[in-house]
This record gives sequence, C-alpha cells and structure tokens, in this order.
Amino acid sequence: MRTELIKAEYGDVETAAKRAAELLGRGEIVAIPTETVYGLAASIYSEKALKEVYSVKGRPQDNPVIVHISAMDMLDGIVAEVPDDALLIADKFWPGPLTMIFNKTDRVSDTITCGMDTVAVRFPSHPVAHAVIEAAGVPLAAPSANLSGKPSPTSAEHCVHDLWGKVPLIIDGGQCEVGVESTVVSMTGDHPVILRPGIISLEQIRELIPSAEVSEAVTRKVRDDEKVMSPGLKYKHYSPECKVTLVKGSLENFASYVQEHYTDGDYAMCFFGDEEKVGIPCISYGTEDDARSQAHSTFAVLRQLDEIGAKRVFVRAPQETGESMAVSNRLMRAAGFDEVVL
Ligand code: TXA
Ligand code: MG
Repeated sequence: MRTELIKAEYGDVETAAKRAAELLGRGEIVAIPTETVYGLAASIYSEKALKEVYSVKGRPQDNPVIVHISAMDMLDGIVAEVPDDALLIADKFWPGPLTMIFNKTDRVSDTITCGMDTVAVRFPSHPVAHAVIEAAGVPLAAPSANLSGKPSPTSAEHCVHDLWGKVPLIIDGGQCEVGVESTVVSMTGDHPVILRPGIISLEQIRELIPSAEVSEAVTRKVRDDEKVMSPGLKYKHYSPECKVTLVKGSLENFASYVQEHYTDGDYAMCFFGDEEKVGIPCISYGTEDDARSQAHSTFAVLRQLDEIGAKRVFVRAPQETGESMAVSNRLMRAAGFDEVVL
C-alpha cells in the first residue's frame, strides 16, 4: 500500500484533516497526532476499518480501544449515562490527556469494546486530532499507532517506522507534548478507579473526587488468564528489542552498579546531568525532578536505544508517585518487571 505523509505541524491543519476525513469516510484508517501519543484512527461506524486497526497493529482481539470525541454532545448515543463525577472530571480535564470508561449503548460495536459492556472515551486537546474528528463528523476509535507491544509513537517518524506501507495516511503533527498515553479512569463503579496512570495524576483527580483510587493491578504483573478491569494490563508493553532493567537507587549507587555490570553494548538511561558520574554510555530521558520532561522523552529514548543497537539498558528509575507514576509504570512494563533495588 502507498502511504501518504502530510505535514500539519506548521499550520496547514485543514488540508490534513480534510484528507483524513475522506479516507475515514471510505472505511480506511489514518495515523494522527494527539497530545499524548499518535493514534491509529478509524470511524466507530466502519467495521472494516475497526478490524483493520487490530490487524495492522497485531493487537490482541480482547484488548478494547478508546473512542475519541471532539465535543461533549458526541457522548450522546455512545454512552448509557454520564455520572455527575464524570462531568466534574470532564469539566476540569477535557479536552486533554484523560480517558473515562462508561457503560456503553448498543451503537458501540463489540469490535471496539471486545464484547465488554463499557466503552472508553477521550476528548483530545491536540488541534490536529480535534480537526480530524470534526472533519470526519463521527467519533474515532484509536489505539496508539505502534505495532502491538512496541513503545507508543510520539513522533510521525515513529509511525513511519511501524506503519509505512500498511496505512494510507500518516499526519505529521510534530512531537507529542505529553509523551505517555492518557490516564484511564473507570467511572462505572461508586468511585473513580485509575486503570492506567497518565500525566493527570491520582492527586489531581482526588482534588475533585477524594475517593478516587488507583487499581491495584496497575503496579504489578498481571497473569495472562486473569480477569482485570483493563485488559491492556495483561499484555507485554512498550518493549524495545534490548533487555531493560529498572534500577532504583541514588545516582552514586546507580553509577557503581552499572559500572560493575557493564559489558559491551550496554547503555544507561538516566537523567540530564547524570552522564559524567554514570561513566558508561548514556542517554538521558528528562530531568530528575520533572516528571513531565521524563514522560515527554521516555518512549522516544526506548526507540532510540533500539536504533543504536543497544543490547541491554539500565534505567535510572523515576519516582513512583504523583505525575511520575505514569513514567514509572511504563518503564516497569518495558522492563517486564525486572528491577534491581539498591
Ligand atoms: O493517550 C491515549 O490514550 C492514546 C491516544 C491515541 O489517544 N491511546 C491509547 O490507546 O493509548 P491504547 O489502545 O493503546 O490503550 C487503550 C487502553 C488499553 O489499556 C485498553 O485495555 C484500555 O485502554 N481500554 C479500552 N477500552 C476499555 C474498556 N472498555 N474498559 C477497560 N479498559 C479499556
Ligand atoms: Mg497502546
């Protein structure tokens, strides 16, 4: 298949959105930028396109996708009810990097929800994502635009790497500002439950609804046969080709550890300013006390390590709470839960 690449980064959003809408209207799929990561979008009303999303990504058939909207009234018809708490959250965080799970209506295909009776919905703030949904005139189902299991794409180059020749259009909207996927919050119980941490933290949600909590399955390995609220937790995620080990400890201890274990082809993934002390080849992924900078670079650095042929990577672990929880969670899964505590 011929893949078209349209740049929408410096203004010409309309041309890109129009072209995307044409393709989406014909039941084709399109890679689009969002503020979190790039998404691989399909009309929620095209079974052909929805199935194509799963097959192009190689996505397990039991891992549902998120529906993206560009106005609150698009919720009508797809969700059974919007609880008051959800309205509070939407008021504060939509449009933005947050997804809510609601009870669904019959209009939402089982291909989107994998037969679950709930649907995940996000209202992205990225101007290109917004323009594409508006031009398409329908909600768009979109998982992250990576091949299943690989780090999520945070630039058009990453989409080109994974999807060239497999999709008709990739829209280049530059680098994603947030860099990790949206916070996923279930709104179907008596209090909000975070199923996937994102840059909108538990603490921020608790400012609105103090009873909000994080699902215990978020921070541990989930068995293949286990029934969990968010099927995505079951799968190997964000994995580069190289072996990743998460190392928790001070800079001094980290440096001694990696120097002691270093063999040819190893790298450290650390914070800006650590390089000199670490003393083995290093790529930094943000500033130690700035979770947003880490979120922004984590996936790009994991991909870069594969590009340069790293065999093994020792990651200097970030904090585990607040905004850092999102980063820590992605790195833990990239490491397949292989961690060293110093
Ligand atoms: O930031 C994002 O959320 C990006 C951009 C493109 O919007 N999308 C994204 O989609 O990360 P994806 O498919 O890679 O991750 C969706 C997550 C999965 O972990 C999936 O299991 C969960 O959301 N999910 C989707 N529908 C669900 C549902 N009805 N109940 C529970 N979890 C659901
Ligand atoms: Mg994904």
